[in-house]
Order: sequence, then C-alpha cells, then structure tokens
Amino acid sequence: MRILVVGGGGREHALAWALHRDGPHSLAVCPGNPGTADIAVNVPGDPFQAALDTGSDLVVVGPEAPLAAGLGDRLRAAGIPCFGPGADCARLESSKWFAKEIMTAAGVPTARGELFRDRESAMDFMAGAPAEWVVKADGLAGGKGVVLPASMEEARRAVDSLLAGASGAVVVEERLTGPEVSVMAVCSGDRAVILPPSRDHKRIGEGNTGPNTGGMGAVCPPPGTGRDFSREALDTVFLPVLRELKSRGMDYRGALYAGMMLTPDGPRVLEFNVRFGDPEAQAVLPVIRGGLADLFMSAALGGGLSEPEAEPGASAVVILASRGYPGPCGTGMPITGLDRVRDVLLFHAGTSIRDGVLVTSGGRVMGITALGENLDRALELCYRAAETVHFDGMTYRRDIGRSL
Ligand code: AMP
Ligand code: GLY
Repeated sequence: MRILVVGGGGREHALAWALHRDGPHSLAVCPGNPGTADIAVNVPGDPFQAALDTGSDLVVVGPEAPLAAGLGDRLRAAGIPCFGPGADCARLESSKWFAKEIMTAAGVPTARGELFRDRESAMDFMAGAPAEWVVKADGLAGGKGVVLPASMEEARRAVDSLLAGASGAVVVEERLTGPEVSVMAVCSGDRAVILPPSRDHKRIGEGNTGPNTGGMGAVCPPPGTGRDFSREALDTVFLPVLRELKSRGMDYRGALYAGMMLTPDGPRVLEFNVRFGDPEAQAVLPVIRGGLADLFMSAALGGGLSEPEAEPGASAVVILASRGYPGPCGTGMPITGLDRVRDVLLFHAGTSIRDGVLVTSGGRVMGITALGENLDRALELCYRAAETVHFDGMTYRRDIGRSL
C-alpha cells in the first residue's frame, strides 16, 4: 500500500514506525522529521498535493488542524481514502461546546457546562466560587485553552482572554477531580475498536507541577484500567457519540480520543480529540501487534473493524525536552548518544539536520518508548536510555508513571 502520513511530530514518527513494521508498504510523511526520514520519504509542502504526487492509496492524518480545515473532505472528494474525520466531525475537538452538545444528546457522562459570549454572564454563573469551575475556550487554543481559576480575579482574566479567541465564546464547566486516562479508538461510521488506554503527564514539573505542556511522558495501560474499563468506555462513550453523529448525517472515519477523568462518581469525559494523542500514540501504537495499515484503511473506507491484538505487559514514554520548555527555548543543540541506546524506540519531534548533524529544533525534542513485562521494566528501560542521550539543556521528568 502507498501510505502518506500527515504531520511531523513524535506521533507521526510513531505512526510511520508502526506502518513500516506492518509492511511492506511504500511510506511517505508530509512534512516528516529526521526520524521518519529513516523509514519513509519526507515530502514537504501541502499535504493534499503530497497525496496526489505520491499516488497515495491511503492518507493517515496526525494532527487536528488539517482535519478541522477539511483535508479529510478534500481527499475523499478526490477519491483518496483518508484515516481522519471530515471538518464537521472535527468540531468535536475544535468546539468544546459542540462536543458538549453531542455528549449531552448521546447521554455520555461529562461535566455540566454552559456556553457564554460575554464576561458578565460567565462571571455570574460562577457565583463567586471560582474553584468549582473550569473556564475553556470554545475553539482550538493550541493546548492553552483551559484555565482552572483559583480566584475570581483569575477567572475574570481567563474569561477575558479566552473570549478574545477565534470563536468569541467560552465554556464554563464544573470542576471534577480524579486521575486522568486517555482512551483512543479507531472509528468507522458507528463502529469502533478501542486501543489500550494510556495516561499522559501534561505538566512540565515532577509531581505534576508547573505549566501545562504538550505532554512530558505517557504510560500504557495506566494501573487499574483493565478490559472492563475499555468495554465500558466503548459502550458508554464511543458508540453513543458515533451513533449521535451518524443521526446528524456525520460519518466519522479516523481516530477518536476521549480524555477522561476517573471521578469518585465514575468516569467522565473532559474532552475529545479527533486524532491520536501525543505522546499517548508513542506509548500505544508500539503495543499493537500489527495490522494497523489494514485497520486504518478499513476505517477510511467505512468498513468493518477487527479488534487489534496488543502485547501483554506495559509501555512507557519519556519525553526529552529543551531547557525553557514550554516557554521559549534554545535550538540548534547537537544531539549525541542515540547510537548507544538499547531496547527502546526513539521517536523524533523537535529535531532537524544542520550541516549533517542532528540538532534540536523545538521544545519537545524526542520521545523514548520502551515495552516491558510490566510498567517498572518499561520505565527502567526508558530512563536507562535517557541517560545515554545528550544535548545541551536536555530535561525530562523522572516521575513518569509515578504521579497521577
Ligand atoms: P482539555 O483540553 O479539555 O483536556 O483540558 C486540559 C486539562 O484540563 C485536562 O487534561 C484536565 O487536567 C483539565 N480539565 C479539563 N476539564 C476539566 C474539568 N471539568 N475538571 C477538572 N479539570 C479539567
Ligand atoms: N496528549 C494530549 C493530546 O494529544 O492532546
């Protein structure tokens, strides 16, 4: 199969790696990164054009922005199967309020919330109790759209700045507590198969402190989430949402991610993403035994899905980041030691080649993934490899899998 993967981060390297392992496929990645260049052809430029130029049989879209912009629709209209939903379904991620409406209509357990277009009504709704609420931008906000205010002043600032965003609206929602779990499914119309659950570590600092990042590590599966959890997520979240979308004339074909919180009252959905999570994909895809190309193709065509087999044991990802991340950070630092790492996978994100040397080019530089018979072993392998890699200003969390 000729497959084009769209994107250039760790998730896309993991996707390309998993498809390559499935092979033999002819793989291209647009734009890709130095990691994907080892197993695929990197194609710069516009992804739609890249799909035409490479004669792709299947396009697998990594990030949400091209999906929200209608890449899936354009590809399907041109007769190219796409693993990634159309712009209508992508609103599940690009509009928190659309997601809330769908969940409410489908009876999916989620936090109670309201949509506001002006500051006064949003502030009145919070009724002087900011710590009971979460303020969210309605539209895509690049991971910066959620504020948990500690005071009314902070709540006011959050409402003002998020109202200034593209959609001009905020969702104020009940604040829930509990450990978080990421659940990803492959969906084809109103059918879905669940992949093993995982857990991201979003804060920059150990013990879950400091600002939110794109994700500093992940584990799969999180302790306490067995087959019953996945079955419940399928029956109470994914299938009802897909049926609700279908009843509105929307045919979902691609990955769907539910960010869930295990509250004292049971699991609740916090958000949907219309793509695989990153770094979650780097933990989950290597655990799948194979057959992903066929699974993605079948979903892209709206066909039947067979349950993917997963390795026993566990996996972990530790993200190596540049000093300063998630704020401004230096780039161009040479990366060494990669040839000496053992028993792990390295997924590139913020790397580039300069004068023939691999250097850093972003905040999240690369992910180290390991599989083990249990989580302790997977983490041990990741951390052993992390000690071998070096670049100036390299940082990573040492408590992945240890703090919720
Ligand atoms: P989201 O982009 O909606 O996943 O939100 C990002 C993060 O904000 C989540 O991973 C949670 O840690 C937190 N969050 C979102 N919604 C809530 C909520 N209703 N209650 C508590 N924390 C939340
Ligand atoms: N790791 C969270 C996300 O991909 O949105």
